[in-house]
Amino acid sequence: MVSVPTHLVSADTEWSPLRSVIVGHAADSCFPTAPPHMIKATMPEEHFASFRPKNRFPASLLDRADAEVRQFVQILRDHGVLVYRPKAIDWFAEGGYTAAMPRDGLITVGNTVIEACFAWECRHREIELGFSEILADLEKDPVVRVVRAPKVERPDALYEGIRGFGQKDAVNGEVNGTHTVHSHEWAINNARPAFDAADFLRFGKTIVGQLSNVTNQKGVDYLRSAVPEGYSVELLDVTDEHAMHIDATILPLRQRLLIYNPERVSKRALQKLDLFKDWELHAYPYQPAPRENPPRYMTSGWLLMNVFSLDEKKVVVEAGDVEFAEYIRKLGMEPIPCPFQHVNSIGGSFHCTTVDLVRQGT
Ligand code: ARG
Repeated sequence: MVSVPTHLVSADTEWSPLRSVIVGHAADSCFPTAPPHMIKATMPEEHFASFRPKNRFPASLLDRADAEVRQFVQILRDHGVLVYRPKAIDWFAEGGYTAAMPRDGLITVGNTVIEACFAWECRHREIELGFSEILADLEKDPVVRVVRAPKVERPDALYEGIRGFGQKDAVNGEVNGTHTVHSHEWAINNARPAFDAADFLRFGKTIVGQLSNVTNQKGVDYLRSAVPEGYSVELLDVTDEHAMHIDATILPLRQRLLIYNPERVSKRALQKLDLFKDWELHAYPYQPAPRENPPRYMTSGWLLMNVFSLDEKKVVVEAGDVEFAEYIRKLGMEPIPCPFQHVNSIGGSFHCTTVDLVRQGT
């Protein structure tokens, strides 16, 4: 039975009872393209060469990914969640990436949905093409506000003066060294607002985020100006030079309980935020097992933290992440396993594939 939410958009946390959500799909996804220094800063080294224009992900991989997504959608519907799906787009023809990772492009804050100011040019039309019909539907509710991203006039301006930018063919090995970017020298400058929505998470009236290779200070300032009255955006100090999306770095499981990735953030850095003063903060104690088949083209093993909460108890976890599931079970959670390896292969897991629209207030 699907419960009808009072408003079409209303979410203040990552963990309160979920009522409605957008879930992406994988069909026709292609490897994204970005300047070589950006790929080097954010993607796994063994796959650098795949990030070239007009390179489709293998069709059988995408078929399997979509079968996994359907299973995930069924789990959500079985729990009474209303699920919106994006329009099918031929990303090959559009020179784009995917509709599978809407978390990167949209963030809900209260009754407002804010579109990311993507750093990557290949993603500039992703929301417009795949998601504008959903956004138009949501806007039929008069309390809902949708903030669309400004048009970018000169995409490359974001890279001017960045080390490694403009060097030909750096991905294919003509530039020496594995990384052209070192700690806190991000792959973008501050020429215009840039942020990916997945660099931010909701903790009540506070949004917690990070600067990263796709999010700059102007992007944070833009987000601050776009959130509704009464909400604030605070930055967490991460120690990850490859940072891109915070949802494999910290994971709030319920009010006052958070798991963090000790390779990317310290307890001290978390405790610097007032918000976490009375939270239980647990470093995830195990090393994620390597996953090679299907290949993890775009992410690290820490994707195991990229789970999706149905409420303060139930969380959807990747079926193979048994050690992780047992760990959170001991913390009082109820893991719901779902296979998602083929979705993981193309860039993210359950959290990346979704955009929460309504989570019931407490
Ligand atoms: N960059 C993270 C890692 O490699 C993965 C984050 C994925 N998140 C997303 N919203 N696409 O561990």
